[in-house]
This record gives sequence, structure tokens and C-alpha cells, in this order.
Amino acid sequence: MKKKIAVLPGDGIGPEVTKQAIKVLEVIAERFDHEFEYEKGLVGAVAIEETGDPLPKETLQICLEADSILFGAIGDPKYDNNPNAKVRPEQGLLRLRKELGLYANIRPVKTYESLIQRSPLKEENIKGTDMVIYRELSGGIYFGEKGRSEDGESAYDHCTYTVAEIERIAKLAFEAAQNRRKKLTLIDKANVLETSRLWRQTVQVIAQNYPDVEVEYLFVDNAAMQIILRPNQFDVILTENMFGDIISDESSVITGSIGLLPSASIGEKASLFEPIHGSYPQAAGKDIANPIAMILSVAMMLNHFGLEEEAELINTNITFMIKKGLVTQDLHSRNFISCSKVGDALGLLLDKNIEGVRFENMFEGRLPVI
Ligand code: IPM
Ligand code: MN
Repeated sequence: MKKKIAVLPGDGIGPEVTKQAIKVLEVIAERFDHEFEYEKGLVGAVAIEETGDPLPKETLQICLEADSILFGAIGDPKYDNNPNAKVRPEQGLLRLRKELGLYANIRPVKTYESLIQRSPLKEENIKGTDMVIYRELSGGIYFGEKGRSEDGESAYDHCTYTVAEIERIAKLAFEAAQNRRKKLTLIDKANVLETSRLWRQTVQVIAQNYPDVEVEYLFVDNAAMQIILRPNQFDVILTENMFGDIISDESSVITGSIGLLPSASIGEKASLFEPIHGSYPQAAGKDIANPIAMILSVAMMLNHFGLEEEAELINTNITFMIKKGLVTQDLHSRNFISCSKVGDALGLLLDKNIEGVRFENMFEGRLPVI
């Protein structure tokens, strides 16, 4: 298979984790005889520094011409603490989502047996958690009209949704539920917000076409509590943009590290794959960031290409590495390896199969695992 992949490393730890993802892709290409062509683009704070624009025209063009996009991370503290900044790194990602019509952001959340102890939550409550969040990505309060009054004393962000916007992602979520445990939870705030009432009404109509899927409705405040109390009750979660942003970060706590959660953004044009974590500027350049979320995003991309065997191979080997402790320090505070070593180790596993690999050197002599 031949594919053109736009690579947008972005800010902070973005470039480091993206490098590991490409390493892994190259081994997959070699082993399965695929050809992946990479085209790099600037986005975020680095793009502002070089061009003044968080999404330069050339970058958008590269994305429009690609089969899919790998996205690292975006954001820089320099802008976070300056509410008056006119140009912000995040605008690059938001515009990209809009331009590519990326309306569905799919975020799977799964616990790893061997990491259960890392989670701050109780084992009996989180065991077996396996859910996927369908977050609407191109509407709502993120994209509504926003502004300030002339005297600067008030500000507004409008939240709007159309039936069509709700329908298209709801259909994807229902189909996913049909292929999973057949349960869908709509998270909204229908006791207060008119847009939420439109979501509930629209989902109730669509649900009639999926009689085998059990539908549950939860207010977002209650849902935020349930996700922490008993996450294994969820299968598919469907929600609007802002609620989805918040509950997916919250959900990462269940797994023990936000460095484990990948995502796929599906839309009208090329799809985009990115870890849900941010740019983690404190770790940038130190080779300590966890590349797993990024690598699992690559697996989601391969699945999207229909390369299921390749994706599965990455997923099983990541599970194996986690079990063996070949992980970065967010997952193991005493014996850990660097970001680039995680990429190297996975590359070896994918290349030669588990039997042939010796991991002693991976731990820099501290702890042989096999
Ligand atoms: C995410 C991020 C983005 C969002 C930011 C960087 C604009 O937090 O992908 O979850 O809020 O959607
Ligand atoms: Mn977020």
C-alpha cells in the first residue's frame, strides 16, 4: 500500500513523540511492504515564530493533499498567560479541524491490566474499563461567534448546533456501539442548555434506527462523577465539543497516564491522528515524554487505512512492553527508559518478533527483563 502522510509535529514534546511514531511506521512499512511518504508541516507556536501564522498556507495544502495527518501537540505557556495575544497556537489546530471538516473525534480509553496499580482510582472500580468517547469536533462553543463588548466589560462565546451536525456524529457513534457492547451514553446538560435539548431530541430520533443499542442519557456533571466512580459502566460515549474535551482528559486518569490515550479525528477530507495529551512544555527536549499515545494514534491510522493486522501488531506489542516495564517514567518511577528507547524497543519487537529481541541494553544495564 502506498500512502501520503502529512506530519505536523507542532510544539513542546510533539516533535519527540512524532519521531518515535515515524520510526514505528517505517518498521511496519518494511515488514509489510508498504510505502509511506511523509510531508512535514509547521503548526502551532513554532509556526507563529517562523511565519506569524499558526497554520501557514503551505501546511494546510500539505494536509489537503495527504491521505492522512499525524499531529503531535500544540501549545506554549508563553501564550497561555497572555489573554491579550491576538494570535495563539491553538488557532492552528482549530482551523485545521474546520478546514478539513473533522467533525468526529474518537478517543478510546482502556485500562491495562499491568498498570492498574498506577491509577489513582480503586482497582475494583476501574477493572475492565474499555470505552470510547465520540466527541463532536467542529461545532459548539469552540466555533460560535465570540467577542467583547466595546467597553471591554463583557465577553461572549456562542454555542450553536444544527440537527445535521448532531446527526452525522451520532450515526458514527451508534454504529460503533453496534460493533461493541451495544450501549451508548449521551452526555449533555439538557436541564439547562437549549443546544443540549436539541442533542437529546436528535439522538432520540436516531436511536430508533438502532433498536439493538441501549441508550442512556446523563447530565455532564453527573457523568463527570460516574466516569471516576465506575468507568467500566460505559461503552460508547457521545457528546458535544466542550464536554468531550473535558471528560476525555478526565478519563485519562483512569488509565494511569494521559500519555497513553490516542485519538482519531474523522471528517469530510483526510483524517487526523493525534495523542490527546498536550505539548507538556516542561518535558520538551528531555527525551522523557511518553510516546505511546502517539504510537497508538499511528495504530488507529493504520486501522483507518484498512491495515488491521499491522495495527493489531502495534497494539499487542505496546501491551507487551507495558507489561514488561519498557516504559517512560510517568508509568514507572524507578525503572524506566527514555522516549526514544521506547520507540527503539517497539521497532525491534515489530521487526524481529518477541523471541529474537534482547532488552538488556534498553534499560542501560539496570534491569534485564527477558
Ligand atoms: C484537545 C486540545 C485542544 C482542544 C486544544 C489544544 C485546542 O485540548 O485536542 O483536546 O481543546 O480541543
Ligand atoms: Mn483537550
